Amino acid sequence: MENLIEKIISLNGKTAVITGGSSGIGAATARLLSQAGAGVVILDINQDQGETTASNIRDNGGVARFYACDITDETQVKTAAAFVKKTYQTLDILFNNAGVIVRKNVIDLEESEWDAVVDVSLKGTFLVSKHMIPLMKANGGSVINTGSGWSLKAGENAAAYCAAKAGVLNLTRAMAIDFGKYNIRVNCVCPGDTDTNLLRSEARQLGEDETVFLKQASARPLGRMGTPDDIAKSVLFLACPLSEWISGTSLLVDGGGLA
Ligand SMILES: NC(=O)c1ccc[n+]([C@@H]2O[C@H](COP(=O)([O-])OP(=O)(O)OC[C@H]3O[C@@H](n4cnc5c(N)ncnc54)[C@H](O)[C@@H]3O)[C@@H](O)[C@H]2O)c1
Repeated sequence: MENLIEKIISLNGKTAVITGGSSGIGAATARLLSQAGAGVVILDINQDQGETTASNIRDNGGVARFYACDITDETQVKTAAAFVKKTYQTLDILFNNAGVIVRKNVIDLEESEWDAVVDVSLKGTFLVSKHMIPLMKANGGSVINTGSGWSLKAGENAAAYCAAKAGVLNLTRAMAIDFGKYNIRVNCVCPGDTDTNLLRSEARQLGEDETVFLKQASARPLGRMGTPDDIAKSVLFLACPLSEWISGTSLLVDGGGLA
């Protein structure tokens, strides 16, 4: 029994690329996938935090590298993909996770703010997939895109974010259709409010007291916010053979919030 469980959640010998892996959900996922046996490559613009996350994983016996990459810049993404190819030859898991949020409605949003949000979540997912999926074609693999509860419904003063995250979900379906023939599965994890820098930045942007904001974020059936580890576990599920016949779908991980 133990062997069977190990076999279906093990990522031994696998390589995973994680965008936005320096902090929050991405860093927790880098740690968990590494504990499951994968070698992880963190792509992020936050070099200091990314190097620290990778070195903590190595200190705990894992294999992790940080590679500085702005995923909105195709030249940088191409260089990162060449690095992965040179280092590992193939890729098994891609977690498209980097994201930013601006809490404004369409009247108040600046064009540059719209571009920043849509470019990281949606265009970044496109660019990284475009250059990393070719490394998966020989052996198959799993792509996990990060949506949000706001991929499935919308929220107040988050117009660009809601549009981008809904786009990520339908891009997920389109990619699942296109790459199933290579045994590449593509799914979307949709977190609810999870305690990270991004969530706390929303309180500041909205001019709300952080403690009150976080308390409101905890008001859901399971009575608490998510932790980055909660989301990392669902990414591990979508990455490993437990989910081998799951593709083109969304997994809402939100403590019952949307219910
Ligand atoms: N925290 C939540 O409540 C919540 C809820 C739903 C969805 N999400 C999504 O989860 C994902 C992770 O966010 P988080 O909450 O862990 O926040 P976070 O701010 O801790 O992590 C986001 C990471 O993305 C990186 N990043 C930003 N722009 C980048 C770029 N151009 N290129 C490369 N890296 C870049 C940041 O440096 C950071 O390390 C995001 O896509 C976010 O939208 C978060």
